[in-house]
Amino acid sequence: MQSQHRTTADVTTADVVVVGAGVIGAAIAWRCAQRRIAVVTVDPDPTRGAWHTAAGMLAPVTELQYTETPLLHLNLDSLRRWPAFAAELAAELGADERAVGLRRTGTVLVAWDAADLAALRDLHAFGQRFDIASILIGGRDLRGLEPALAAGLPGGLHAPDDHQVDPRLLRDALARAGRRRGVRHVTAEVTRVRTTGDRVEGVDLADGTTLAAPVVVLAAGAWSGTLAGPPPGAVPAVRPVKGQTLRLRLPGTPVLNHVVRGRVKGNPIYLVPRADGRIVVGASTEEAGFDRSARAGAVYELLRDAQSLLPELGEAELAEISTGLRPGSPDNAPLVGASGALGGLVVATGHYRNGVLLTPVTADGVAALLADGALPDVLHPFAPDRFERIPA
Ligand code: GLY
Repeated sequence: MQSQHRTTADVTTADVVVVGAGVIGAAIAWRCAQRRIAVVTVDPDPTRGAWHTAAGMLAPVTELQYTETPLLHLNLDSLRRWPAFAAELAAELGADERAVGLRRTGTVLVAWDAADLAALRDLHAFGQRFDIASILIGGRDLRGLEPALAAGLPGGLHAPDDHQVDPRLLRDALARAGRRRGVRHVTAEVTRVRTTGDRVEGVDLADGTTLAAPVVVLAAGAWSGTLAGPPPGAVPAVRPVKGQTLRLRLPGTPVLNHVVRGRVKGNPIYLVPRADGRIVVGASTEEAGFDRSARAGAVYELLRDAQSLLPELGEAELAEISTGLRPGSPDNAPLVGASGALGGLVVATGHYRNGVLLTPVTADGVAALLADGALPDVLHPFAPDRFERIPA
C-alpha cells in the first residue's frame, strides 16, 4: 500500500476509504493507520450512529440467546481484547483507560421474581460452560452490592467481568488517536461507491469530489445497506432497529456501583452508571425504519421500569433522550470480511446490540485482513456473503 494521502482539486487518493466514522469505522481507521495504511474516513454526521445512543455494556452473554454459540465465542474473544485495546489507545493519547471510556464496574443482573431467579440460575449454568465468571446471590447480598435498589428483590447474578465503556469517550479517543496517526476525515455524504469492472475504486461524495482508493470499508452502521454502486448481493441487507436511551442525573453521591440489568414484569431494562454521575437507562427495541424521533411511550416505559428497580430515579433530572438505529443483519450477527461479489469492498457492519463490545475484534480483524491478507479464525463465521452460500 502507498501509505500516503494525495489530494488534487477534486480527488483525494488513499489506500483505504472507510465509509462511516462511528466507533467501528474510527477503530478500523486507527488500527489500519498503526499499520502504515493511508486511511480516509467519510461520514456526514458521525453522531447519528448507534454509538451515540448506546450504553456500551460489555455483555457477552446477556445480549444473546443461549444457542448463538459462534457469536458467543466472538463476544468473548472481543471482551478479552478490551483491556489491551483500551490500554493501547490510552497510551497513544497519554491518558488512562477511564479517559477512553472503559469503566470496570461489573454487572448485577437483578431478579424481579422467582421465575427470573430460575432464569438467572440457567444463565449462570450456561456461563460456567464457557468459564464466564458469575455468582448467584440472594436478596441480602444484592442489597449489599447495590443498597439503593428497591426493597424486596429476591436476588440476582453478579457478573464481575461484564464492564462498560462510554461510547462517546471512546469515539472521541479513537478519532484523536487516528488523527495523530495520519487518518484524514471528510464530513460528507457518500453518493455512490465507484466501481470499475468487478472492483471498487473509491467513493463519490455529494459535494462533487471523489475519494479514490483500491479498498472501501463499509462501516456505515444502519445505513450500510443504502449505498448505491455495489452490484446486487455485494452488501447484505442491514436494517435499522431503533433504540431509545435516557440519561438521568441524580444530585449527590453516585447511587449505583455496577451496571444493573433486570426485567420488570418481563420488560428488559438496564441502568448504566457513568463516571460523570449520569445513569444511562435503556433501551427500547423498535422496528420503525429510519425514523429517529423520540416516542413518548418508550420514554414512559423506560422511566417506569427503571424507577421500579431504583426508586430514587423519581427525583432525577431527565438530562437527555437519545434515539439511535442499531444495524441489524438478517441473523442479527455481524457482517465482517471481504465482500464475495465486489473486489476491494470490505464489510464491517451489522453489529446490532454489540457494537461497542465487538469494536476491538472487528478493528483488529479488518486491519489484519488489509495488512496481512487474512481475518482471525473467530471472524470466519461472520463472512458477509454467508447468506448467499446457504444451499437452497
Ligand atoms: N446493547 C444494548 C442495546 O442494544 O440496547
